[in-house]
Amino acid sequence: MKFHNKQLEVLRCIKNEKPKILICSGAKRAGKTFVLTFAFMAHVAKYENKGLSFILGGATQASIRRNILDDMEGVLGREIKLNKSNAFDLFGNKVYCFDGANSDSYKKARGFTAAGAFLNEATTLHDTFVKEVISRCSYTGARIYMDTNPENPTHSVKTDYIDKDGQRLKNGQLNIKAFNFTLYDNSFLDNEYVQSIEASTPSGMFFDRDILGIWVASEGVVYQDFDKNKNYINSDELDNINFVKYFAGTDWGWEHYGTIVLIGVDDRNNYYLIKEIAKKHKHIEYWIDEAKKIIDKYGDIPFYCDTARPDYIKKFREARIKAIDGRKDVIAGISEVASMFKTRKLKVVEDNVDIFKIEIYNYVWKDGKDEPVKQYDDVLDSLRYAIYSDLKYGRERTYNSR
Ligand SMILES: Nc1ncnc2c1ncn2[C@@H]1O[C@H](COP(=O)(O)OP(=O)(O)OP(=O)(O)O)[C@@H](O)[C@H]1O
Ligand SMILES: [Mg+2]
Repeated sequence: MKFHNKQLEVLRCIKNEKPKILICSGAKRAGKTFVLTFAFMAHVAKYENKGLSFILGGATQASIRRNILDDMEGVLGREIKLNKSNAFDLFGNKVYCFDGANSDSYKKARGFTAAGAFLNEATTLHDTFVKEVISRCSYTGARIYMDTNPENPTHSVKTDYIDKDGQRLKNGQLNIKAFNFTLYDNSFLDNEYVQSIEASTPSGMFFDRDILGIWVASEGVVYQDFDKNKNYINSDELDNINFVKYFAGTDWGWEHYGTIVLIGVDDRNNYYLIKEIAKKHKHIEYWIDEAKKIIDKYGDIPFYCDTARPDYIKKFREARIKAIDGRKDVIAGISEVASMFKTRKLKVVEDNVDIFKIEIYNYVWKDGKDEPVKQYDDVLDSLRYAIYSDLKYGRERTYNSR
């Protein structure tokens, strides 16, 4: 098996310095999981036929399967089947797979004595689960490996482990060692692929975290890559575009603007914010009327709605509007919209929007938190629900039909 230089550094460290806890944090697609899957298997193999227990932790059983077990099967050349306790045999030992995302996940690991653990995507795990697993690894020579993408620098994975890089126990044994990966470390990736990821990763926080692997706090304007010279078009230009699909996004509001945005998609998969409706102090009947006008002109299109008001969604449905619960994952949604602004796949019809023009430059990150300030977000939220739901439901359909 071949490894890139950063991965070799990690393996050398494991061999020579034997840290008890080793963390690989950094960029997406950098090769962190790959090297730690190998290191974890090698660690289990050291205890061949000892009948010991090991822990494999991930956010969900599905993510453990997708991120680790599938690759392990490739290395082992056999299928891994989990038993009723979500465990499998590896080199005469037992590996227990625990999903660790929830506040009560730590209970699964209680009472265990483990000779090692691999925690995948550590920031997606509950802090109490991470700590419980570490304290369960009490067998002599036990090792804990973790991989993760960076998040806010105040995250406990950063403050409790990565910031303690180099920490030693009283006997001199290295306790914690942290490695940082960038996308450029993975020399196995195709050059064009790396360039396309660079081009589509939004500037600022997303680029710093996903490409450079740095634990930066969010700051400043959310949609930094929006460029008025490149992301606006004029409504005259719409006639020359071959639209293949339309959908809408809806954000309910009373004191804030309630909004509907209409999105069109052309035959080259470019997205257009065609029309914005933003009004304060309007009852649901008004929004039903507006949605109906859109349906009369553009067909029976889906309306991806803010789920904060199920009663309004119900009213839409009673009026035979195809109202669908919007997907509201904030960071993931912002990342998709920001990426489309950067690649200019998403354009806005300048003369059909008003509130958008103000919000796009005033929608900012909350200082030190991985969330935007809840202001100047009325049109931008319905835009995000619309775009992110369309992508997410679309991908799920593709996955399920496979
Ligand atoms: N040594 C290697 N040899 C061959 N392919 C590799 C190697 N290391 C990594 N890869 C490949 O590179 C891709 C990214 O690796 P991996 O999944 O380990 O990245 P990651 O850092 O865990 O990314 P993410 O943060 O997105 O989970 C995978 O397709 C993986 O198979
Ligand atoms: Mg990974």
